[in-house]
Amino acid sequence: MTQQSSHGTCPFTGGTHRPDEPYPGRDVLRAAGPVVLTEAPAGGPVAVVTTAALARVVLGDRRIVTDTALAPSTWDPRVAGLEPAAADALSLTTAEGAPHAALRRAHAPMLSPRRMRARAGAMRDAARELLAGLGDTADLTADFTTRYPLTVVGDLLGLPRAMIDDAVDACRRMLGDAADAAAAMGAFARLGAAAMEHDGLARELRGRLPASVTDDEVHYLLFALIFAGQLTTDIALGFLLARVLTARDAAQRSSTRRGSPPADVPALVDDVLRRDPPAPFSLWRFITEEVELAGVVLAPRTPVLVDLAGLADDPGAGPGSGMAFGAGPHVCAGIHLARTELAAAVDVVVTDFPDARLAVPAADLRRVDPGGVQGSRLAALPVAGLRPRA
Ligand code: HEM
Repeated sequence: MTQQSSHGTCPFTGGTHRPDEPYPGRDVLRAAGPVVLTEAPAGGPVAVVTTAALARVVLGDRRIVTDTALAPSTWDPRVAGLEPAAADALSLTTAEGAPHAALRRAHAPMLSPRRMRARAGAMRDAARELLAGLGDTADLTADFTTRYPLTVVGDLLGLPRAMIDDAVDACRRMLGDAADAAAAMGAFARLGAAAMEHDGLARELRGRLPASVTDDEVHYLLFALIFAGQLTTDIALGFLLARVLTARDAAQRSSTRRGSPPADVPALVDDVLRRDPPAPFSLWRFITEEVELAGVVLAPRTPVLVDLAGLADDPGAGPGSGMAFGAGPHVCAGIHLARTELAAAVDVVVTDFPDARLAVPAADLRRVDPGGVQGSRLAALPVAGLRPRA
Protein backbone atom coordinates (compact mmCIF):
# COMPACT_ATOMS: atom_id res chain seq x y z
CA MET A 1 0.00 0.00 0.00
CA THR A 2 1.65 3.23 -0.99
CA GLN A 3 -0.85 5.88 -0.03
CA GLN A 4 -2.56 6.56 3.28
CA SER A 5 -5.82 8.46 3.67
CA SER A 6 -6.66 10.24 6.88
CA HIS A 7 -10.39 10.37 7.51
CA GLY A 8 -10.89 10.19 11.29
CA THR A 9 -13.77 7.72 11.30
CA CYS A 10 -14.28 4.00 11.65
CA PRO A 11 -16.99 2.09 9.76
CA PHE A 12 -16.61 -0.86 12.17
CA THR A 13 -17.94 0.98 15.25
CA GLY A 14 -21.00 -0.46 17.01
CA GLY A 15 -23.82 1.30 18.85
CA THR A 16 -27.59 1.60 19.15
CA HIS A 17 -29.46 4.00 16.89
CA ARG A 18 -32.92 4.90 15.62
CA PRO A 19 -33.59 2.92 12.42
CA ASP A 20 -33.64 6.11 10.33
CA GLU A 21 -30.20 7.24 11.54
CA PRO A 22 -27.33 6.71 9.08
CA TYR A 23 -24.81 3.95 9.69
CA PRO A 24 -21.91 5.21 11.85
CA GLY A 25 -19.07 6.93 10.11
CA ARG A 26 -20.25 6.26 6.56
CA ASP A 27 -20.71 9.87 5.39
CA VAL A 28 -17.22 10.84 6.59
CA LEU A 29 -15.79 7.71 5.01
CA ARG A 30 -17.35 8.38 1.59
CA ALA A 31 -16.27 12.01 1.74
CA ALA A 32 -12.69 10.72 2.18
CA GLY A 33 -12.76 9.16 -1.30
CA PRO A 34 -13.72 6.09 -3.34
CA VAL A 35 -10.99 4.02 -1.62
CA VAL A 36 -10.23 4.70 2.04
CA LEU A 37 -7.49 3.02 4.01
CA THR A 38 -8.54 2.31 7.57
CA GLU A 39 -7.90 -0.09 10.45
CA ALA A 40 -9.49 -3.56 10.08
CA PRO A 41 -11.42 -5.03 13.07
CA ALA A 42 -8.76 -7.77 13.40
CA GLY A 43 -5.92 -5.23 13.11
CA GLY A 44 -3.84 -3.84 10.27
CA PRO A 45 -4.98 -1.90 7.24
CA VAL A 46 -8.02 -2.54 5.04
CA ALA A 47 -8.98 -0.66 1.87
CA VAL A 48 -12.70 0.19 1.97
CA VAL A 49 -14.48 0.95 -1.32
CA THR A 50 -17.19 3.60 -0.84
CA THR A 51 -18.80 4.22 -4.26
CA ALA A 52 -21.16 1.98 -6.24
CA ALA A 53 -19.27 2.55 -9.49
CA LEU A 54 -15.93 1.42 -8.06
CA ALA A 55 -17.62 -1.38 -6.09
CA ARG A 56 -18.80 -3.01 -9.33
CA VAL A 57 -15.28 -2.80 -10.76
CA VAL A 58 -13.68 -4.29 -7.64
CA LEU A 59 -16.21 -7.12 -7.25
CA GLY A 60 -15.64 -8.11 -10.88
CA ASP A 61 -11.83 -7.84 -10.87
CA ARG A 62 -10.16 -11.27 -11.08
CA ARG A 63 -7.02 -9.89 -9.39
CA ILE A 64 -9.04 -9.27 -6.21
CA VAL A 65 -10.10 -12.62 -4.71
CA THR A 66 -12.00 -14.05 -1.74
CA ASP A 67 -9.58 -16.84 -0.76
CA THR A 68 -8.80 -16.24 2.90
CA ALA A 69 -5.38 -17.91 2.48
CA LEU A 70 -4.27 -14.38 1.58
CA ALA A 71 -5.54 -12.84 4.84
CA PRO A 72 -2.93 -11.48 7.28
CA SER A 73 -1.58 -14.41 9.33
CA THR A 74 -2.02 -12.36 12.53
CA TRP A 75 -5.80 -12.12 12.11
CA ASP A 76 -8.12 -13.97 14.49
CA PRO A 77 -10.58 -15.58 12.05
CA ARG A 78 -13.50 -15.05 14.44
CA VAL A 79 -12.79 -11.35 14.97
CA ALA A 80 -12.31 -10.86 11.24
CA GLY A 81 -15.27 -13.05 10.27
CA LEU A 82 -13.13 -15.29 8.05
CA GLU A 83 -14.05 -18.66 6.57
CA PRO A 84 -11.36 -21.36 6.20
CA ALA A 85 -9.11 -20.97 3.15
CA ALA A 86 -10.19 -22.51 -0.16
CA ALA A 87 -7.61 -25.30 0.21
CA ASP A 88 -9.10 -26.28 3.61
CA ALA A 89 -12.84 -26.27 2.85
CA LEU A 90 -14.72 -26.52 -0.45
CA SER A 91 -16.85 -23.38 -0.40
CA LEU A 92 -18.54 -21.06 -2.85
CA THR A 93 -17.37 -18.04 -0.92
CA THR A 94 -13.62 -18.76 -0.99
CA ALA A 95 -13.23 -20.67 -4.30
CA GLU A 96 -12.15 -18.67 -7.35
CA GLY A 97 -11.90 -19.15 -11.11
CA ALA A 98 -12.90 -22.47 -12.71
CA PRO A 99 -13.58 -24.37 -9.43
CA HIS A 100 -15.83 -21.52 -8.28
CA ALA A 101 -17.68 -21.41 -11.62
CA ALA A 102 -18.24 -25.19 -11.41
CA LEU A 103 -19.70 -24.86 -7.91
CA ARG A 104 -21.96 -22.00 -9.03
CA ARG A 105 -23.19 -24.13 -11.97
CA ALA A 106 -24.07 -26.94 -9.55
CA HIS A 107 -26.05 -24.59 -7.28
CA ALA A 108 -27.69 -22.33 -9.88
CA PRO A 109 -30.55 -24.53 -11.20
CA MET A 110 -31.65 -25.29 -7.63
CA LEU A 111 -31.99 -21.62 -6.70
CA SER A 112 -33.29 -20.25 -10.03
CA PRO A 113 -36.08 -17.64 -10.20
CA ARG A 114 -38.44 -20.24 -11.73
CA ARG A 115 -37.81 -22.79 -8.96
CA MET A 116 -38.24 -20.12 -6.30
CA ARG A 117 -41.47 -18.79 -7.83
CA ALA A 118 -42.84 -22.33 -7.77
CA ARG A 119 -42.11 -22.47 -4.03
CA ALA A 120 -43.69 -19.10 -3.15
CA GLY A 121 -47.00 -20.68 -2.06
CA ALA A 122 -45.19 -23.07 0.30
CA MET A 123 -43.21 -20.12 1.70
CA ARG A 124 -46.45 -18.19 2.36
CA ASP A 125 -47.90 -21.27 4.10
CA ALA A 126 -44.82 -21.49 6.35
CA ALA A 127 -45.01 -17.78 7.25
CA ARG A 128 -48.75 -18.00 7.98
CA GLU A 129 -48.36 -21.08 10.16
CA LEU A 130 -45.48 -19.61 12.17
CA LEU A 131 -47.14 -16.21 12.69
CA ALA A 132 -50.44 -17.81 13.69
CA GLY A 133 -48.61 -19.81 16.37
CA LEU A 134 -47.13 -16.77 18.12
CA GLY A 135 -50.17 -15.63 20.11
CA ASP A 136 -51.75 -12.18 19.96
CA THR A 137 -48.57 -10.21 20.78
CA ALA A 138 -44.96 -11.15 20.08
CA ASP A 139 -41.54 -9.73 19.38
CA LEU A 140 -41.05 -10.95 15.81
CA THR A 141 -37.25 -10.77 16.13
CA ALA A 142 -37.29 -13.13 19.13
CA ASP A 143 -38.05 -16.20 17.06
CA PHE A 144 -40.05 -15.64 13.86
CA THR A 145 -37.37 -13.82 11.86
CA THR A 146 -34.91 -16.64 12.63
CA ARG A 147 -37.25 -19.61 12.32
CA TYR A 148 -39.04 -18.59 9.12
CA PRO A 149 -35.94 -18.47 6.85
CA LEU A 150 -34.71 -21.72 8.38
CA THR A 151 -38.08 -23.39 7.79
CA VAL A 152 -38.08 -22.18 4.18
CA VAL A 153 -34.53 -23.32 3.42
CA GLY A 154 -35.02 -26.52 5.44
CA ASP A 155 -38.14 -27.43 3.43
CA LEU A 156 -36.23 -26.75 0.21
CA LEU A 157 -33.24 -28.84 1.18
CA GLY A 158 -35.28 -31.76 2.52
CA LEU A 159 -34.57 -31.18 6.21
CA PRO A 160 -37.25 -32.75 8.46
CA ARG A 161 -39.33 -30.05 10.19
CA ALA A 162 -38.53 -31.78 13.51
CA MET A 163 -34.92 -30.56 13.08
CA ILE A 164 -35.68 -26.85 12.65
CA ASP A 165 -35.14 -26.29 16.40
CA ASP A 166 -31.63 -27.73 15.96
CA ALA A 167 -31.04 -25.38 13.02
CA VAL A 168 -32.23 -22.36 15.05
CA ASP A 169 -29.92 -23.35 17.91
CA ALA A 170 -26.93 -23.96 15.60
CA CYS A 171 -27.33 -20.56 13.89
CA ARG A 172 -27.48 -18.80 17.27
CA ARG A 173 -24.41 -20.67 18.54
CA MET A 174 -22.44 -19.55 15.47
CA LEU A 175 -22.56 -16.07 17.00
CA GLY A 176 -21.33 -17.27 20.40
CA ASP A 177 -17.78 -18.08 21.52
CA ALA A 178 -15.33 -20.47 19.81
CA ALA A 179 -16.67 -23.53 21.68
CA ASP A 180 -20.25 -22.65 20.70
CA ALA A 181 -19.25 -22.19 17.07
CA ALA A 182 -17.43 -25.55 17.03
CA ALA A 183 -20.51 -27.26 18.48
CA ALA A 184 -22.66 -25.50 15.90
CA MET A 185 -20.50 -26.84 13.05
CA GLY A 186 -21.09 -30.37 14.37
CA ALA A 187 -24.83 -29.69 14.42
CA PHE A 188 -24.73 -28.32 10.86
CA ALA A 189 -22.99 -31.50 9.67
CA ARG A 190 -25.82 -33.55 11.22
CA LEU A 191 -28.42 -31.29 9.59
CA GLY A 192 -26.73 -31.71 6.19
CA ALA A 193 -26.59 -35.48 6.58
CA ALA A 194 -30.27 -35.61 7.58
CA ALA A 195 -31.34 -33.46 4.63
CA MET A 196 -29.46 -35.74 2.23
CA GLU A 197 -31.55 -38.69 3.42
CA HIS A 198 -34.71 -37.09 2.06
CA ASP A 199 -35.93 -35.80 -1.31
CA GLY A 200 -34.94 -32.19 -1.78
CA LEU A 201 -32.24 -29.84 -2.94
CA ALA A 202 -29.57 -31.30 -0.65
CA ARG A 203 -29.77 -34.59 -2.52
CA GLU A 204 -30.02 -32.75 -5.83
CA LEU A 205 -26.85 -30.79 -5.03
CA ARG A 206 -25.03 -34.04 -4.15
CA GLY A 207 -26.09 -35.42 -7.55
CA ARG A 208 -24.87 -32.33 -9.42
CA LEU A 209 -21.38 -32.44 -7.88
CA PRO A 210 -18.59 -34.76 -9.06
CA ALA A 211 -18.26 -38.02 -7.12
CA SER A 212 -14.83 -36.79 -5.97
CA VAL A 213 -16.59 -34.29 -3.69
CA THR A 214 -16.99 -36.01 -0.30
CA ASP A 215 -20.17 -36.07 1.76
CA ASP A 216 -18.40 -33.95 4.40
CA GLU A 217 -17.70 -31.35 1.73
CA VAL A 218 -21.35 -31.39 0.66
CA HIS A 219 -22.35 -30.90 4.31
CA TYR A 220 -20.16 -27.79 4.41
CA LEU A 221 -21.78 -26.43 1.24
CA LEU A 222 -25.19 -27.05 2.81
CA PHE A 223 -24.06 -25.29 6.00
CA ALA A 224 -23.22 -22.24 3.87
CA LEU A 225 -26.69 -22.19 2.34
CA ILE A 226 -28.41 -22.59 5.71
CA PHE A 227 -26.30 -20.12 7.69
CA ALA A 228 -25.72 -17.46 5.00
CA GLY A 229 -29.43 -17.57 4.21
CA GLN A 230 -30.58 -17.31 7.82
CA LEU A 231 -28.20 -14.62 9.03
CA THR A 232 -29.09 -12.19 6.28
CA THR A 233 -32.79 -12.89 5.81
CA ASP A 234 -33.36 -12.77 9.58
CA ILE A 235 -32.05 -9.20 9.68
CA ALA A 236 -33.90 -8.18 6.52
CA LEU A 237 -37.25 -9.47 7.81
CA GLY A 238 -37.01 -7.25 10.88
CA PHE A 239 -36.47 -4.06 8.87
CA LEU A 240 -38.97 -5.08 6.19
CA LEU A 241 -41.86 -5.94 8.51
CA ALA A 242 -41.13 -2.83 10.59
CA ARG A 243 -41.50 -0.78 7.39
CA VAL A 244 -44.77 -2.52 6.44
CA LEU A 245 -46.30 -2.09 9.91
CA THR A 246 -45.10 1.50 10.28
CA ALA A 247 -46.79 2.32 6.96
CA ARG A 248 -49.95 0.53 8.11
CA ASP A 249 -50.00 2.58 11.36
CA ALA A 250 -49.52 5.82 9.41
CA ALA A 251 -52.32 4.93 6.98
CA GLN A 252 -54.67 4.03 9.84
CA ARG A 253 -53.96 7.30 11.63
CA SER A 254 -54.59 9.36 8.52
CA SER A 255 -57.92 7.77 7.50
CA THR A 256 -60.56 5.31 8.60
CA ARG A 257 -59.32 2.76 6.08
CA ARG A 258 -57.31 -0.24 7.13
CA GLY A 259 -53.63 0.26 6.36
CA SER A 260 -53.02 0.31 2.61
CA PRO A 261 -50.99 -2.64 1.34
CA PRO A 262 -47.64 -1.79 -0.25
CA ALA A 263 -48.22 -1.21 -3.97
CA ASP A 264 -45.12 -3.03 -5.21
CA VAL A 265 -43.80 -5.62 -2.76
CA PRO A 266 -40.64 -6.61 -4.74
CA ALA A 267 -39.69 -2.92 -5.02
CA LEU A 268 -40.27 -2.47 -1.29
CA VAL A 269 -38.06 -5.49 -0.53
CA ASP A 270 -35.25 -4.11 -2.68
CA ASP A 271 -35.56 -0.65 -1.14
CA VAL A 272 -35.34 -2.05 2.41
CA LEU A 273 -32.29 -4.11 1.42
CA ARG A 274 -30.69 -1.05 -0.17
CA ARG A 275 -31.21 1.14 2.93
CA ASP A 276 -30.37 -1.55 5.51
CA PRO A 277 -28.21 -4.18 3.79
CA PRO A 278 -28.04 -7.25 6.07
CA ALA A 279 -24.42 -7.74 4.98
CA PRO A 280 -22.96 -4.25 5.64
CA PHE A 281 -19.79 -5.20 3.77
CA SER A 282 -18.97 -7.51 0.89
CA LEU A 283 -17.09 -10.74 1.50
CA TRP A 284 -13.45 -10.12 2.35
CA ARG A 285 -11.36 -9.63 -0.76
CA PHE A 286 -7.56 -9.76 -1.05
CA ILE A 287 -5.27 -8.29 -3.68
CA THR A 288 -3.26 -10.92 -5.61
CA GLU A 289 -0.98 -8.52 -7.54
CA GLU A 290 -0.39 -4.76 -7.30
CA VAL A 291 -3.60 -2.96 -8.26
CA GLU A 292 -4.41 0.74 -8.57
CA LEU A 293 -7.92 1.71 -7.52
CA ALA A 294 -9.01 5.33 -7.94
CA GLY A 295 -5.39 6.46 -7.66
CA VAL A 296 -4.62 4.35 -4.57
CA VAL A 297 -1.97 1.68 -5.19
CA LEU A 298 -2.67 -1.49 -3.24
CA ALA A 299 0.05 -4.06 -2.60
CA PRO A 300 -0.48 -7.83 -2.89
CA ARG A 301 -2.41 -9.33 0.07
CA THR A 302 -4.04 -6.01 1.01
CA PRO A 303 -7.51 -6.78 2.46
CA VAL A 304 -10.40 -5.02 0.69
CA LEU A 305 -14.05 -4.55 1.64
CA VAL A 306 -16.91 -2.88 -0.21
CA ASP A 307 -18.98 -0.69 2.12
CA LEU A 308 -22.42 -1.98 1.05
CA ALA A 309 -24.20 -0.11 3.90
CA GLY A 310 -22.61 3.18 2.88
CA LEU A 311 -23.62 2.81 -0.78
CA ALA A 312 -27.28 3.60 0.07
CA ASP A 313 -26.33 7.26 0.34
CA ASP A 314 -23.87 7.34 -2.57
CA PRO A 315 -25.23 10.22 -4.69
CA GLY A 316 -23.63 8.65 -7.79
CA ALA A 317 -25.33 5.26 -7.32
CA GLY A 318 -28.52 6.10 -9.22
CA PRO A 319 -31.98 4.67 -8.57
CA GLY A 320 -32.48 0.90 -8.49
CA SER A 321 -28.78 0.18 -8.31
CA GLY A 322 -28.81 -1.47 -4.88
CA MET A 323 -25.91 -3.81 -4.20
CA ALA A 324 -27.15 -5.57 -1.05
CA PHE A 325 -26.46 -8.92 -2.73
CA GLY A 326 -23.01 -7.89 -3.98
CA ALA A 327 -22.04 -8.16 -7.66
CA GLY A 328 -19.68 -10.05 -9.95
CA PRO A 329 -18.85 -13.77 -9.75
CA HIS A 330 -19.56 -13.97 -6.00
CA VAL A 331 -22.93 -12.22 -6.15
CA CYS A 332 -25.27 -13.85 -3.63
CA ALA A 333 -26.20 -17.40 -4.70
CA GLY A 334 -29.49 -17.16 -2.78
CA ILE A 335 -30.72 -13.87 -4.26
CA HIS A 336 -33.93 -15.30 -5.78
CA LEU A 337 -34.66 -17.37 -2.68
CA ALA A 338 -34.17 -14.33 -0.45
CA ARG A 339 -36.34 -12.02 -2.53
CA THR A 340 -39.11 -14.62 -2.86
CA GLU A 341 -39.23 -15.51 0.83
CA LEU A 342 -39.14 -11.88 1.94
CA ALA A 343 -41.98 -10.95 -0.44
CA ALA A 344 -43.96 -14.02 0.73
CA ALA A 345 -43.68 -12.87 4.38
CA VAL A 346 -44.93 -9.37 3.46
CA ASP A 347 -47.86 -10.82 1.48
CA VAL A 348 -48.89 -12.92 4.46
CA VAL A 349 -48.72 -10.07 6.99
CA VAL A 350 -50.62 -7.75 4.65
CA THR A 351 -53.29 -10.22 3.53
CA ASP A 352 -53.75 -12.70 6.35
CA PHE A 353 -53.01 -10.58 9.44
CA PRO A 354 -55.04 -7.40 8.86
CA ASP A 355 -55.05 -6.46 12.57
CA ALA A 356 -51.29 -6.85 13.12
CA ARG A 357 -49.76 -3.55 14.26
CA LEU A 358 -46.67 -2.28 16.03
CA ALA A 359 -47.07 -2.73 19.78
CA VAL A 360 -44.78 0.27 20.43
CA PRO A 361 -44.54 3.65 18.67
CA ALA A 362 -42.35 3.36 15.56
CA ALA A 363 -40.12 6.06 17.10
CA ASP A 364 -39.21 3.63 19.90
CA LEU A 365 -37.73 0.99 17.57
CA ARG A 366 -33.96 0.71 17.79
CA ARG A 367 -31.29 -0.61 15.46
CA VAL A 368 -28.31 -2.35 17.07
CA ASP A 369 -25.07 -2.00 15.12
CA PRO A 370 -22.86 -4.80 16.51
CA GLY A 371 -19.70 -3.34 14.99
CA GLY A 372 -17.04 -5.20 13.00
CA VAL A 373 -18.33 -6.69 9.75
CA GLN A 374 -21.58 -8.02 11.22
CA GLY A 375 -24.97 -6.79 10.08
CA SER A 376 -27.12 -4.41 12.12
CA ARG A 377 -30.50 -5.63 13.30
CA LEU A 378 -33.58 -4.35 15.08
CA ALA A 379 -33.29 -4.74 18.86
CA ALA A 380 -36.93 -5.88 18.90
CA LEU A 381 -40.08 -5.72 16.78
CA PRO A 382 -43.05 -6.01 19.19
CA VAL A 383 -46.28 -6.64 17.25
CA ALA A 384 -49.84 -6.91 18.56
CA GLY A 385 -53.03 -8.16 16.88
CA LEU A 386 -51.35 -11.23 15.37
CA ARG A 387 -54.69 -12.87 14.62
CA PRO A 388 -55.07 -14.64 11.29
CA ARG A 389 -58.02 -13.46 9.16
CA ALA A 390 -61.05 -15.63 9.95
C1 HEM B 1 -31.65 -10.67 2.14
C2 HEM B 1 -30.93 -11.76 2.11
C3 HEM B 1 -29.51 -11.85 1.61
C4 HEM B 1 -28.56 -10.88 1.41
C5 HEM B 1 -28.71 -9.39 1.60
C6 HEM B 1 -27.36 -11.54 0.96
C7 HEM B 1 -26.17 -10.88 0.65
C8 HEM B 1 -25.03 -11.50 0.18
C9 HEM B 1 -23.79 -10.83 -0.11
C10 HEM B 1 -23.54 -9.35 0.06
C11 HEM B 1 -22.91 -11.77 -0.54
C12 HEM B 1 -21.44 -11.53 -0.91
C13 HEM B 1 -21.30 -10.93 -2.28
C14 HEM B 1 -19.90 -10.47 -2.59
O1 HEM B 1 -19.09 -10.21 -1.68
O2 HEM B 1 -19.59 -10.34 -3.79
C15 HEM B 1 -23.60 -13.04 -0.52
C16 HEM B 1 -23.03 -14.23 -0.91
C17 HEM B 1 -23.66 -15.45 -0.75
N1 HEM B 1 -24.95 -15.68 -0.31
FE1 HEM B 1 -26.30 -14.29 0.21
N2 HEM B 1 -27.59 -12.87 0.90
C18 HEM B 1 -28.90 -13.11 1.27
C19 HEM B 1 -29.54 -14.32 1.33
C20 HEM B 1 -28.98 -15.53 1.01
C21 HEM B 1 -29.66 -16.80 1.03
C22 HEM B 1 -31.14 -17.00 1.36
C23 HEM B 1 -28.73 -17.75 0.72
C24 HEM B 1 -28.90 -19.25 0.64
C25 HEM B 1 -29.58 -19.91 -0.09
C26 HEM B 1 -27.48 -17.08 0.47
C27 HEM B 1 -26.31 -17.70 0.10
C28 HEM B 1 -25.16 -17.04 -0.28
C29 HEM B 1 -23.97 -17.73 -0.74
C30 HEM B 1 -23.79 -19.23 -0.85
C31 HEM B 1 -23.03 -16.73 -1.05
C32 HEM B 1 -21.62 -16.92 -1.59
C33 HEM B 1 -21.68 -16.84 -3.12
C34 HEM B 1 -20.33 -16.96 -3.78
O3 HEM B 1 -19.32 -16.61 -3.15
O4 HEM B 1 -20.29 -17.37 -4.95
N3 HEM B 1 -27.67 -15.73 0.66
N4 HEM B 1 -24.89 -12.85 -0.08
